[in-house]
Amino acid sequence: MNEEKFVEVKDLRKVYDNGHEAIKNVSFSVKKGDLVCLLGPSGCGKTTILNMLAGLLNPTSGEILFDGKNVVNVEPKNREIGYVFQNYALYPHMTVLQNVMFPLTVGKTKRPKEEAEKIAKKYMALTQITDLADQKPGNLSGGQQQRVAIARALVGEPKILLMDEPLSNLDARLRLKIREEIRALVKEVGITTLFVTHDQEEALSIGDKIILFNNGVIQQDDNGQNFYLEPRNHFVANFIGNPVIDNFAVKVENNEIKASDFSIKISDLDAQRFRKQLIDGDYTLSVRPENITPAENGEISTEIVDVELIGRERILKFNHDGQQARSLVNLEVPIKAGEQVKLKLRLDRIFIFTPEGERIY
Ligand SMILES: Nc1ncnc2c1ncn2[C@@H]1O[C@H](COP(=O)(O)OP(=O)(O)OP(=O)(O)O)[C@@H](O)[C@H]1O
Ligand SMILES: [Mg+2]
Repeated sequence: MNEEKFVEVKDLRKVYDNGHEAIKNVSFSVKKGDLVCLLGPSGCGKTTILNMLAGLLNPTSGEILFDGKNVVNVEPKNREIGYVFQNYALYPHMTVLQNVMFPLTVGKTKRPKEEAEKIAKKYMALTQITDLADQKPGNLSGGQQQRVAIARALVGEPKILLMDEPLSNLDARLRLKIREEIRALVKEVGITTLFVTHDQEEALSIGDKIILFNNGVIQQDDNGQNFYLEPRNHFVANFIGNPVIDNFAVKVENNEIKASDFSIKISDLDAQRFRKQLIDGDYTLSVRPENITPAENGEISTEIVDVELIGRERILKFNHDGQQARSLVNLEVPIKAGEQVKLKLRLDRIFIFTPEGERIY
C-alpha cells in the first residue's frame, strides 16, 4: 500500500484535438485519506485533470498511478472511482433510492437487490437523505440533489472520490453548510478525495492541502496557511486572500525600495526572508491589507476615500498611483472616509515580486 502517494500524477500533459495545451507537465501526489482541493480560475484545467483521473479523457503523455499502479490504460469502470459531476446528472425518472442504488445494479459493482438496497440506505443515512427515498429528483432542492449525487458516487465504495465544483449550484449559506458536511463525510468514510473548486475560501476551509493551477501549470502545492503566508509567486499572492492583497509598483535603488509616495530602507527588512538577492530594478511590493494599518509613524500619508464594513472588520480604502488599495482594521478603529491618515507596513509580512512574478522577499 502506497500511503503517501495513493494518487500520483507524473508529467501529465493534455493537448486537445484543436492543439490547445490545457495541461502542461503536471506532477503531484495525494496521501491516502486526504481531501485535496484543486483550485484555480476558470479554464485553468481542473476538469481536464479530473476527467483524465477518471479515464473519461486520455492524457497526451504522462502517468496516473493509483496505489502505485499505472491506470492510464485501465477502463473508467475499472478504476474504482466515484465521480460527482458539477451538474449532478441524476436520473429524473428514478426515485432517490433508485438513483443511489444505480451503480450497484450494473457492471462490476452489481450486487443482489437486497444487498444493494442495504448499502444504498447506509450512504443515504450518512448524507441525510433517508426521508427522501421515494421522491423524484425534480422535487428536490439543489442541496438535496447534491446529497443524492454524493451518495450515488460513494455507494460502489470506490477508492477515490472526484468532485467537480460540487457546491457551485447552491446559495452561499448552503455552500458553507454542505462543504463542512462533505469534509466530515469523506473523513468518516476515509476515502481519498480530489475536490475541484474555484473558490479560495472553500479550498482553505476544507482542504488538507491545496493545489493551485493557472493555465495548466501548478502554481503552488501546499497547505492552506502557506498559501496565505508564503505565496510562491505573484499569481498565488493575488489569487489567495479576501480582501485581495495590495500591490505597489516600486523601484529598488541606492539600498532603498521607492514607491511613488513612500520608501523603505532595505536594511529595515528581515534578512532571512530574502529568497534571492534584490538587485536594482523595478518590482511589485505586495502586502495583505491587515499588514498595512494606521500608525503615527506610518510610511504612507494618504486620505481614506471610502470605508467598507465587513462584519467584525472594516476596510479603509485609499488611492495609490491611481489604484485603490486597502487597509483592514478592527471594527473599533474610528477612522472615517475623508480623514488623512498615516499607514504603516508590517515589513516582516510584505512580499517583493519581480515583473515576471517571481518572489524575491
Ligand atoms: N474539448 C476541448 N477542446 C479544446 N479545448 C478544450 C476542450 N475542453 C476544454 N478545453 C480548454 O481547456 C482549458 C481547460 O479547460 P477545463 O474545462 O479543464 O477548465 P476548468 O479549470 O475546469 O474551468 P472551469 O472552472 O470553468 O470549469 C480551457 O481553456 C478550455 O477552453
Ligand atoms: Mg471545470
